[in-house]
Amino acid sequence: MAEAKKLFIKTYGCQMNVYDSERMAEALAPSGYTLTEQADQADMILLNTCHIREKAAEKVYSELGRLKPIKAARPELKIGVAGCVAQAEGEEIIRRQPLVDLVVGPQSYHRLPEMEKTLRSGTPQVETDFPAEDKFDHLPSARRANRGPTAFLTVQEGCDKFCAFCVVPYTRGAEVSRPSARILAEAQELVARGVREISLLGQNVNAYHGAGDGSDWSLARLIKALARIEGLERIRYTTSHPNDMDEDLIEAHGSEPKLMPYLHLPVQSGSDRVLRAMNRKHTAEAYLRLVERLRAARPDLLLSGDFIVGFPGESDADFEATLDLVRAVGYGQAYSFKYSARPGTPASEREGVPDSVASDRLARLQELLGAQQRAAQQAMVGREVTVLFEKPGRLPWQMVGKSEYLHAVHVTDPGLEKGQIARVRVAASAPNSLSGVRL
Ligand code: SAH
Ligand code: SF4
Ligand code: F3S
Repeated sequence: MAEAKKLFIKTYGCQMNVYDSERMAEALAPSGYTLTEQADQADMILLNTCHIREKAAEKVYSELGRLKPIKAARPELKIGVAGCVAQAEGEEIIRRQPLVDLVVGPQSYHRLPEMEKTLRSGTPQVETDFPAEDKFDHLPSARRANRGPTAFLTVQEGCDKFCAFCVVPYTRGAEVSRPSARILAEAQELVARGVREISLLGQNVNAYHGAGDGSDWSLARLIKALARIEGLERIRYTTSHPNDMDEDLIEAHGSEPKLMPYLHLPVQSGSDRVLRAMNRKHTAEAYLRLVERLRAARPDLLLSGDFIVGFPGESDADFEATLDLVRAVGYGQAYSFKYSARPGTPASEREGVPDSVASDRLARLQELLGAQQRAAQQAMVGREVTVLFEKPGRLPWQMVGKSEYLHAVHVTDPGLEKGQIARVRVAASAPNSLSGVRL
């Protein structure tokens, strides 16, 4: 039996990092580690980092600086950096911040137990290769007890799209899909532990094509296979690329009741000129036609998106085209960002638009998206939705869950339990949630 030790993980970035953090904790469990919420009590601190935003690496270095007093008080503490900054910076992290003992890129988490063992002999460890083997084949399966009724499940990683602004193809590597049999087995295991909703994850999840199964898989086929698991009630997927939205997947939105009517489908810009400069390989018109086809399959589909403003070369007219696209689609929810030059990407060599212009565009876009979000929520008032309850709310007998459209819904009812699915009539809309009564 390994000596009992405490592990603290701080997770930044996307849902795939959330999933990975959980898997890292599982990988280190046989070495004696259990998770703690308190960094100052940990024997090992892991920062699972994200490289998507401006100054991402600088922020990691300042976070590491803040750990200095903890390390000074407890020299035996091990500090590690994982995730996309680890991949991008590699050994440089230990050079700049010698208190770091371990640097591990996203594809090498299965090597953590071995690295931890070597670490105990005092040698710092750096692992940022893209190994030939699939980390998921070597990580222990998701076995955390007492989990909530929803779970993430990564089905593919990496991206071959090379959008001109994005670091993901460099930090996560080429697109790799996991074998469907393993995904189905992991889903079965999650359901056996009380999970009722699974979100399938991938940097470009609808590029999923299976692996080593001897036949052609697609995300649609995977969703249909998962839907046959008894006890699994809801399936979602994120994030998808418009160019990988095939006929079967669109059709699945109409025919598969377990597939929830919510879709995150980033477009980034409504201007064809900017889309071309971004290397998105589709036009605004093609995106709008795709949305039409999706809504023909599933009329109540709630759409979400990502937008970048101030991309190098974006003119006022280009920005107006983005506002036009947003008006034409009508998003239920969306994320919008000011462009930031990311080292190593093609766009970083181009001249950006002035910051004041980008800030002004962001404010105008967010005003429009905010109004659409409020309208979409308001439109739910009086309607019946189905809610999967996830946790108690702040008031007595109150439970909070998500509707099929991913709206947070508060219901006060003494009979509700975590993991229960119930029909609810929406009574009111607050800024970021709905409330209702159980039917
Ligand atoms: N896998 C996701 C992208 C992850 S990044 C996908 O393909 O949709 C999430 C979002 O961050 C992107 O959709 C984009 O809108 C934004 N983003 C990525 N790089 C950016 C950059 N350099 N500047 C501003 N926003 C960026
Ligand atoms: Fe990045 Fe997404 Fe483009 Fe891939 S498709 S390069 S992850 S924005
Ligand atoms: Fe960030 Fe890496 Fe995810 S850069 S968004 S953590 S893939």
